[in-house]
Amino acid sequence: MARRPVTLPQLQQKKQHGDPITMLTAWDYLWARLLDAAGVDVILVGDSLGMVALGYSTTLPVTLEQMIHHAQAVRRGVTASFVVCDLPFLSYHESPEQALRSAGQLVKEAEVQAVKMEGASPVVCAATQRLVEAGIPVLGHVGLLPQRVHQLGGLRQQGRTEQAAEAILADAIALAQAGAFALILEHIPSELAQRITAKLEIPTIGIGAGPHCDGQVLVTADVLGLTPQAPPFAPVYADLGTQAIAALQQYCQDVRSRIYPPPQP
Ligand code: KIV
Repeated sequence: MARRPVTLPQLQQKKQHGDPITMLTAWDYLWARLLDAAGVDVILVGDSLGMVALGYSTTLPVTLEQMIHHAQAVRRGVTASFVVCDLPFLSYHESPEQALRSAGQLVKEAEVQAVKMEGASPVVCAATQRLVEAGIPVLGHVGLLPQRVHQLGGLRQQGRTEQAAEAILADAIALAQAGAFALILEHIPSELAQRITAKLEIPTIGIGAGPHCDGQVLVTADVLGLTPQAPPFAPVYADLGTQAIAALQQYCQDVRSRIYPPPQP
């Protein structure tokens, strides 16, 4: 039976009902179709596509035009999952007006249902408020912020001291007050994620933040064993990388030894 489209109010109700939210990343039509068929609640067109699909060493080079291009492909593969797209580095940091223009382009040209911005600086909180006023749902993101990789000195766990934990809690509260519909909690101690989750009425979605969040997100390529260096917190559910290489080697061998096409079962 066809799945009914996932809506924003349904996602928010899941927190009240204690029903965990499932979220994974997709960067093109092929992966969007698979995630949608698997019944994933939310598909994130994350700027991690810069590393996973475009081969950059960080997410920083990704442009708004690239995000639009990939989000359009994802959208074509989705029938029911709720689609959120990242605003890339420097497409929202100047002002709430810049954020509105960038988010507006994603909503109009790629038909995504919400956007995500990293951090809770005054401009990001003001931008969150501006977008929500304009009717664009915003997913917040606190803890490890990959767009600040150089400032942080690497993609390491955040919120380890009492002071750092308090600052992340304050960020989470500020984004909820600005109108974010949910929050990503990335790579923070499990106890801190539990504290934020208990404090907020909006759902928290963890990545490397322990089991106590209202939902979980991972980069799909990490989950399926397709990335050379998955983060230490990412469980691997399949080793598709090894299987794909073995199948491709078999194809090359069949062609070279002239037994192609192989008999099909
Ligand atoms: O870009 C991305 O994939 C993300 C997730 C890590 C949450 O922001």
